[in-house]
Amino acid sequence: MRGTRDLLPPETELWNRVEQTAREVFALYNFSEIRTPIFEDTQLFARGVGEATDIVSKEMYTWEDRARAQSEKAQSLTLRPENTAGVVRAYIEHKLWERPGLQKLYYMGPQFRRERPQKGRYRQFYQIGAEVIGPPSAGSESPVRDAEVLEMLVMLLNRLEIRDWTLQLNSVGSPNSRPAYNEALRKALSDVVERMCMDCQRRAVTNPLRVFDCKVPEDQPIIETLPRISGFLDESDRKHFEEVQKLLRATGVPFVINDRLVRGLDYYTRTAFEFTQGSLGAQNAILGGGRYDGLSEALGGPPAPGIGFAIGEDRFVMALAAGQETASFISAPQAYIAPLGEAMSVPAVKLAQELRSQGLRVELGDESFRLKKSFETADKLGITKVVIVGEAEVASDQFALKDLQSGEQEKVARTQLAERISSPLPYAQAKRS
Ligand code: HAM
Repeated sequence: MRGTRDLLPPETELWNRVEQTAREVFALYNFSEIRTPIFEDTQLFARGVGEATDIVSKEMYTWEDRARAQSEKAQSLTLRPENTAGVVRAYIEHKLWERPGLQKLYYMGPQFRRERPQKGRYRQFYQIGAEVIGPPSAGSESPVRDAEVLEMLVMLLNRLEIRDWTLQLNSVGSPNSRPAYNEALRKALSDVVERMCMDCQRRAVTNPLRVFDCKVPEDQPIIETLPRISGFLDESDRKHFEEVQKLLRATGVPFVINDRLVRGLDYYTRTAFEFTQGSLGAQNAILGGGRYDGLSEALGGPPAPGIGFAIGEDRFVMALAAGQETASFISAPQAYIAPLGEAMSVPAVKLAQELRSQGLRVELGDESFRLKKSFETADKLGITKVVIVGEAEVASDQFALKDLQSGEQEKVARTQLAERISSPLPYAQAKRS
């Protein structure tokens, strides 16, 4: 289907590396995994992400789930376009505020948006995200949380050796400062809106902040003249934002302030951010996030300020792959077992099982191949060591180990085989030392 794709080896090695590294880094910051369903009640996204956003108004995969029995009501369901709303729903549903401290949760998985597909933009794409949420009494509003999440992201980028990124940072204010800004925006828009696209004309009425989502080139010079949110922050928003910046400087996290950054989802308050990456072209936002101090209440829950982010995993992998040769992320098996003839299947299968249980990555050959074909097959698979399983070998419990790179062959006792295979030294050198 348009906008979907199959992920194949060896690229999936890179996906696994990203996910594994993320899990390691999240553990260091004491995050735990949450898994929420891939589809939810449509209302969750309408109320959470916002009716007037592009995501909810144009991009969701929504269907009417028909009633199966008379007692059952039909329900509108939606494939999740993002995971923050689902996490906050779970927080409310399971009363996670009753657990001690803050909830620090991470997730990875597919998300669905009906966008126009292009490089780095898919209809089924993958996010790795994390959320910190909890009652204000547990410190959920503290700027320390904002800085910690951003610093964690920098550790992840460094571990994956993704370079050439920029952290763009803004404060979009709190519900206290938003009405004055919305008013100013509405006023400024009323003079120019008829020169803008149809979407913007609609946005000017329903949710003026959303004109910043507009991607129509002709509208950009007009948008440039609109008032900036930075001029409307109240005292406490400003202090919060300054504190975040102070903490980022202290932990050596470089950032640039971008007071045009408002993000495409309605739930954001105060800190909002995006990381962009140089090698990716038009779809260069590799991750985005921010605070959502009012989201829990908007979904019918208790006050539970939070902050989080979602990484576009597809784009992370693209950035990773751009920096390296395909061969460098393929892990070839360490040994190829070559049984000589059908009678050797059983001992070969047993030997493979033994070596695998000793932690070796082993490919089991075909008993119908001649030795030459086994060598060729091993070579094509990038395997340098071949264990030959013939009658004499089985009888003596000593196996011929052939190193395809050096061409040398040695006899190795069954008990020594695993160690010899994992030894990085070729036979001749190992014998000398
Ligand atoms: P978002 O900015 O909509 O935020 O998405 C986060 C990231 O997902 C983007 O920066 C981008 O890398 C990736 N992404 C979005 N759409 C696509 C697509 N169609 N194809 C490929 N990648 C895409 C959120 O989703 C928020 N839930 C993030 C958040 C968590 N805020 C607070 N907590």
